[in-house]
Amino acid sequence: MCGIVGYIGSKNCVPILIDGLKRLEYRGYDSAGVGILDGGDAKIAKYAGKVAVLEDNIARMKMDSEIGIGHTRWATHGEPNQVNAHPHFNSDETIMIIHNGIIENYSDLKIMLEKEGYNFRSETDTEVLVNLIDKYFKLGNSLFEAVRRALKKVNGAYGIAVIAVNEPDKIIVAKNGSPLVIGVGENENFIASDVTPLIPYTRDVVYLEDGEIAEIKKDSFSVRSISNKILSKTIESVEMDVDEISKGSYPHYMLKEIMEQPESVKNSLRGRIIHEEGLSKLGGLIGFEERIANSKRIIISACGTSWHAGLVGEYMIEQYAGIPVEVEYASEFRYREPILCKDDTVIFISQSGETADTLAAMKEAKRRNALVLGVCNVVGSSIARLSDAGVYIHAGPEIGVASTKAFTSQLTVLALITLMIARRKRMSSVKGREISEALLQIPDRMKEILKLNDEIEKIAEEFVDAKNFLYLGRGFNFPVALEGALKLKEISYIHAEGYPAAEMKHGPIALIDENMPAVFIAPHDAIYDKVLSNIEEVKARKGKVITIANESNGKISELSDFIIKIPKTINMLTPILTVIPLQLLAYHIAVKKGLNVDQPRNLAKSVTVE
Ligand code: F6R
Repeated sequence: MCGIVGYIGSKNCVPILIDGLKRLEYRGYDSAGVGILDGGDAKIAKYAGKVAVLEDNIARMKMDSEIGIGHTRWATHGEPNQVNAHPHFNSDETIMIIHNGIIENYSDLKIMLEKEGYNFRSETDTEVLVNLIDKYFKLGNSLFEAVRRALKKVNGAYGIAVIAVNEPDKIIVAKNGSPLVIGVGENENFIASDVTPLIPYTRDVVYLEDGEIAEIKKDSFSVRSISNKILSKTIESVEMDVDEISKGSYPHYMLKEIMEQPESVKNSLRGRIIHEEGLSKLGGLIGFEERIANSKRIIISACGTSWHAGLVGEYMIEQYAGIPVEVEYASEFRYREPILCKDDTVIFISQSGETADTLAAMKEAKRRNALVLGVCNVVGSSIARLSDAGVYIHAGPEIGVASTKAFTSQLTVLALITLMIARRKRMSSVKGREISEALLQIPDRMKEILKLNDEIEKIAEEFVDAKNFLYLGRGFNFPVALEGALKLKEISYIHAEGYPAAEMKHGPIALIDENMPAVFIAPHDAIYDKVLSNIEEVKARKGKVITIANESNGKISELSDFIIKIPKTINMLTPILTVIPLQLLAYHIAVKKGLNVDQPRNLAKSVTVE
């Protein structure tokens, strides 16, 4: 979703802003712009399309300043054109704003401002906000105070940055629901919607919390609450390398991230297994283990791929720890009346840690006194900070919009949590050791699967023109079927559905003919024979079958048009392996269709609006 970047210091801000916007491209966007203060003037350059378009145009303009803000917009109000792109000016072009989020009461505010003589050029909620700020500024308030007063009138989510011709020595930023971080430099300061644009310049950051507003100057910053209380904030250090956020020699971030999985899973496991005792040790849950293990019920809530990981978690925890588990979309959880009690544990899973629906569901669970745990990738993210306790998955920055390495690391951490709970309950140390050993072997097993990349690319070639796909799996691999279908949809725009394999005969079987490819996830587990029967049902109707299996001979080879043979592991960990060929299949099909796999149309990496 929208990306925010800003600079104040002694250098020309324009290249810094453009570089920052490029680093934010992964969030998904459809227009980009920068705005600067230049003496007594304010200048904005903004265009529909990619940051490269903005960069080309700026090269022809005279834009040089020591203070500026930049934005990538993911359209919510109004189509993605130049007029609706950010920054937005107030009516007399002396104040400008960039905004991530949605102002829910913008139409009421707009009517009020129109009555007072304000005119609007765009269809955006953001232009309403900058004119509201203008109104308070013209009443004689400082820029900080004008922003604060305006925000008190606003309902909705925002991360904003504001600069003004009449106070050219500061950027005012504020946060409510959408992320905002200050990068602290020497004689220069930065702002951004996440830390990626800051890494080349500084590791020292201050995360704003909801309801906070800050004034940032070249050599200082101060933070207050929206009710004007002075706040003291801690400067935190970010551990991230510039290498981690570059593509290296790979053509796409997505491929790099798929290939990184043996390493990212190793990082998720690092220092967290005591193999001799078959135990897991999760630093972020210390002090909460008993309460978690004694939960009457565990609810897992998340969105998208993280929700699929939650479904696998349900199978893991119920089978091994014997605690009932429910998995719910965060967007549904937040809007019903969930029955929660203090003996419930709610686990929220989120790669970005900023997903608006997940964050809101988490606040609801806290309000209802459940124990709230976060399983996040982005360190210092809102969900990580709001949880009572939690576990970082340590997958490293995930830049490709389609989630890949975060999923396998989420599964790894869910397996560690299962082990932690189960060993406190009914699991023997022998069984614990079996799981911990299998977990430790996973990175090597993943490496073997990644060697099949060329083979999978060839299979992909056969399906570039497919219009539909079915993904079918059972047990632990039913959620993998959902995830495989989601990956294909997101980046290749081919319609795909995931189903529990046995459900096929209750409806989707009607779709099967010689044009319908069906991907079966069929590791050699307790229900292998049943899955074989499901494959027979597809074959009998001339469907094309691609199978992910542990063997490539016998019955399964007769039934499959293509077999991708992967190594074995214990049942509960099979999803960490079976998903990899599906990621690669989706990737290669999308590349062969000539699509932008890292930034698929309409999608955003971090969904910070409802
Ligand atoms: C799929 C994908 C999305 C996210 C979802 C939740 O490839 O990336 O479905 O999984 O938007 O995002 P997080 O995990 O950041 O809360």
